Amino acid sequence: MGFPRTRGRRYGIDRREFVRYVAAVSAIPFLPIRVMGQVIDRPAFAADPFALGVASGDPEPESVVLWTRLAPHPLEPGGGMPPQPVRVAWEVADDESFSTVVRRGEAIAVPQLGHSVHVEVDGLRPQRRYFFRFQAGGATSVVGRTRTAPARDALPDALRFAFTSCQHYEVGYFNGYPHMQREDLDLVVHLGDYIYEYAGSDKRPRKHLGNEIESLDDYRLRYAQYRLDDDLRETHRIFPWLVTWDDHEFDNNYAGLVSEEDGVSPEKFLARRMNAYQAYYEFMPLRRRSFPQGPHMTLYRTCHFGRLAGFSMLDTRQYRTDQPNGDHQKPLSGKVFDPRATMLGDRQERWLMGELLRSDAIWNVLAQQVMVAPLNRGTPAEARYSMDQWPGYDVSRKRLLRFLHERRVPNPVVLTGDIHLNWVNDLQLDFEDPQSPLVGTELVGTSMNNGGNGGNVIEEYERAARQNAFVKWYNSNRGYVSCEVTPRAWTSFFRTTPFVDRRGAPVETKATFVIERGIAGAKRA
Ligand SMILES: [Fe+2]
Repeated sequence: MGFPRTRGRRYGIDRREFVRYVAAVSAIPFLPIRVMGQVIDRPAFAADPFALGVASGDPEPESVVLWTRLAPHPLEPGGGMPPQPVRVAWEVADDESFSTVVRRGEAIAVPQLGHSVHVEVDGLRPQRRYFFRFQAGGATSVVGRTRTAPARDALPDALRFAFTSCQHYEVGYFNGYPHMQREDLDLVVHLGDYIYEYAGSDKRPRKHLGNEIESLDDYRLRYAQYRLDDDLRETHRIFPWLVTWDDHEFDNNYAGLVSEEDGVSPEKFLARRMNAYQAYYEFMPLRRRSFPQGPHMTLYRTCHFGRLAGFSMLDTRQYRTDQPNGDHQKPLSGKVFDPRATMLGDRQERWLMGELLRSDAIWNVLAQQVMVAPLNRGTPAEARYSMDQWPGYDVSRKRLLRFLHERRVPNPVVLTGDIHLNWVNDLQLDFEDPQSPLVGTELVGTSMNNGGNGGNVIEEYERAARQNAFVKWYNSNRGYVSCEVTPRAWTSFFRTTPFVDRRGAPVETKATFVIERGIAGAKRA
């Protein structure tokens, strides 16, 4: 979600343009994986090369991704690094003082990937805390802390994780993160809008460097600026993250090959998408399975937390068809019912359904971006729905809900970001039928900070909360959601921070909702 912009006709893709598009894509080089040039073994750095910190992510029972990126001057082009590959050592220990090192190795940070380092450490033990660090030249990074997932067949007593989305540097500070850091979490889940692509603007609490980002260096600089935020960087240092993106990691409200702006050719759009996706990969603790291939990047994947919970991390941007009826708020009509319209794309949808059929998890989590519940934001007489969200893709939405119902997927919980508000929704098979069975629960996380301080009364949403029977709760504060998941119940604590325009906000638990195993729908605790 972002600032609405005027848009007329979309850039339709006819056959001739499609041929041009295919030619353009094949001309876009795929990233080089080979190390080319002389590797620098003992680089001398003018400043701390680990200024961007360390991170970890995508935990598995015996493995986790360790991340860093060498950049002594992160806000300069090239990060202040020489244009050569650099040798980086890493080690993993049981203890913070590294007296018991359990794994160590070397990686090569290559300039083609902005000297980022993604180490997939294996041979670890399940559900254990580990400490890790990197060395390059004479410099040593801060010590990171991470945690492996439980064994695949284990049933842990509890999983604790937090989820958030939508962090806009210019709007202010990421005041939820210091409070998240004090929680005992196994995971942090980010649902997208990790950055915003817009140009720097004056008279705001902070300012983006540069113009609207388009080139690879633009995107890299933007991520570096965000990651230099102490609260964000520290939260990466101490928890493993599971990330997925929304639109602003690339461009507001994009859909597949279609820009929200008129007259942007598919070739130009894809060249920019390649830059955006590469920078995202470079900065996130992702596995090689997510390595970008030109303008394509497979981000959808599963993370199992033993038999307790399975996270299907979804990508609702890259493969979707264009928003119907010109996007924005519209009645459910016309192209909304296009049977060829898709939110996930055929391949991701088949993958998701296969994963859910195979799943032995008690809780089946769909971590994704846009709201599934069909929220009427108009009035009963003049209904309006967001064409960017699942209701705009009626056939896709119904197919997913019917699948969850008919195949009896255990305890589906949908996690949603995007709209900078909290919503707790019952997911009904057919929302037009009051007797329709509930098939799952949707927890919508508010933004970390986008939208400003929040907490104000928004009449449109007050009305929406009243007139949509599936809405259990709505809130306009900023913050994050902390979840405690056990074999018997899923408890969600909606943490909010009263302001974001300056640092140091306290935290409040605005509401607590419980989903009991076997009973769809959340109840206020
Ligand atoms: Fe957003």
